[in-house]
Amino acid sequence: MDYMDELISDLGYMPDSAWAWHNFKRSVEALIVRYHCRDVLEVGGGRSPLFTAEDVARLGIRYSLNDIDPEELSRGPAYVATTCFDIAGENVPFHKRFDLVFSRMVFEHLTDTRIAYRNILELLRDGGVAIAFYPTLYSPPFVINKLLPERAATAVIRFFFPFRNNDQVPKIPAYYSWCFGDRKRMPGMLKGLGYRDVLILPFYGHTYFQGLPVVRTLDRWLSDAALRHDCRLLSSYAYSIVRK
Ligand SMILES: C[S@@+](CC[C@H](N)C(=O)[O-])C[C@H]1O[C@@H](n2cnc3c(N)ncnc32)[C@H](O)[C@@H]1O
Repeated sequence: MDYMDELISDLGYMPDSAWAWHNFKRSVEALIVRYHCRDVLEVGGGRSPLFTAEDVARLGIRYSLNDIDPEELSRGPAYVATTCFDIAGENVPFHKRFDLVFSRMVFEHLTDTRIAYRNILELLRDGGVAIAFYPTLYSPPFVINKLLPERAATAVIRFFFPFRNNDQVPKIPAYYSWCFGDRKRMPGMLKGLGYRDVLILPFYGHTYFQGLPVVRTLDRWLSDAALRHDCRLLSSYAYSIVRK
């Protein structure tokens, strides 16, 4: 078994999007344990960091929380150190500070995700690891979200998911730059930036068309076929796991 297969089996990877949602936290924990990580940064964690105070104590980590929006960070809990900066900005305020950097549902909001991956390389110590969980093109709901003007996309999402409001879960613009689950372009780009190991795990299916029975059935048929044929152009989500 090679290193990548070992990691996949460590995570217990299943290509279903429900698995991806339920197991993201467990997957980050598995990486923390596997690579003996101590300094952990969550990017774009906003008001709702992934780890609780109990998790931090149990894992024995130093946990920092980043966001571009100071207002989001101010709504977060007090047990985590916060650091406000743009992960896709010109510079990042730390150099080789973290053993693990992770993000969930952040990269689709960046206009150029390559800059974030480049900055994460700067934030990581040698041998450090990063995992990002993001929606992927060309899953139909994300193609629609990308093509619709922002006001229309917000109205549609609020109609189907009333909790997507500014107080609960805000809807922010999404660009889907480098949000792919493929096995060539993404690894090529990430290796080109300087990562030594790259693993892209695609996931299929989503819940966006729950209220539309006919569309839901057609979409389910399409994503089941994509899963059977490993057609990653139609994946809905992915984890990118990279090692410096
Ligand atoms: C959809 S929310 C996800 C929040 C959290 N990660 C979660 O899964 O619940 C996206 C978050 O990313 C933050 N964000 C967007 N662009 C960012 C950037 N360039 N740098 C850092 N954070 C950013 C937003 O402010 C927001 O808090």
